[in-house]
Amino acid sequence: MEENKIPAHIGFIMDGNGRWAKKRGLPRNFGHNKGAEVFKKTINWCRELGVKCATFYAFSTENWRRPTDEVEGIMNLLRRYIKDIRESAKENIRIIILGDITQLAEDIQFELSDIMDSTKDNDGFIVGIALNYGGRDEITRAARILAQKAANSEIAPEDISENSIEELLYTAEMPPLDLIIRPSGEQRLSNFLIWQAAYAEFVFMDVLWPDFSKKNLEYAISEYSARNRRFGGI
Ligand code: IPE
Ligand code: IPE
Ligand code: MG
Repeated sequence: MEENKIPAHIGFIMDGNGRWAKKRGLPRNFGHNKGAEVFKKTINWCRELGVKCATFYAFSTENWRRPTDEVEGIMNLLRRYIKDIRESAKENIRIIILGDITQLAEDIQFELSDIMDSTKDNDGFIVGIALNYGGRDEITRAARILAQKAANSEIAPEDISENSIEELLYTAEMPPLDLIIRPSGEQRLSNFLIWQAAYAEFVFMDVLWPDFSKKNLEYAISEYSARNRRFGGI
């Protein structure tokens, strides 16, 4: 495939873990465990295919509505995965966490800040992990920072541009989002990267995330490469 036909940045909405477990008569958290394994493999597949950056939706600002035992299960899974994430750093991978981590347990916050800091000079690949992430929350946060600067007379309201908002988003140091892949059959964004998705391509797939394979990824990329992106032009 031609270089420009490969998306630089793919967003993955890792959905369908619960249904995957239910189909097998297993508790929902089994689906989350399996989903976390697929997350790890997908990073390698992306690298093999020439993608530069992948962002994974792991926990939304709305997912707190789930039963406590499920939320705790996901947080414990995250604690276990932090080790694997550290391993990735050895492969020249930069990790960027998207979302308000101050709402997470202190030990997790500490680990995540440390991982982001210790991988910030890695330039082989970028992995974004969206945790307690919401697109509306992300934009609100940027608005609040700019409003504070205006109130302090550091900037004038008319200086606020799309660029100044973009610089305050969690994706500021990532390549533009080219493609969003959502498995599980749902066709919505569920508050994922809503600003960044303005001109992204979407590929919705029926496969449940724990069954997502390299073939599925290749299919989504070939779909993407056949699209005609006009960005408002002709
Ligand atoms: C996605 O799978 C994982 C998270 C939201 C944490 P779900 O848990 O939403 O799986 P379904 O949609 O219920 O099948
Ligand atoms: C989106 O999936 C969030 C993540 C994958 C982390 P959800 O399962 O929470 O989305 P809805 O509720 O179906 O929109
Ligand atoms: Mg779901």
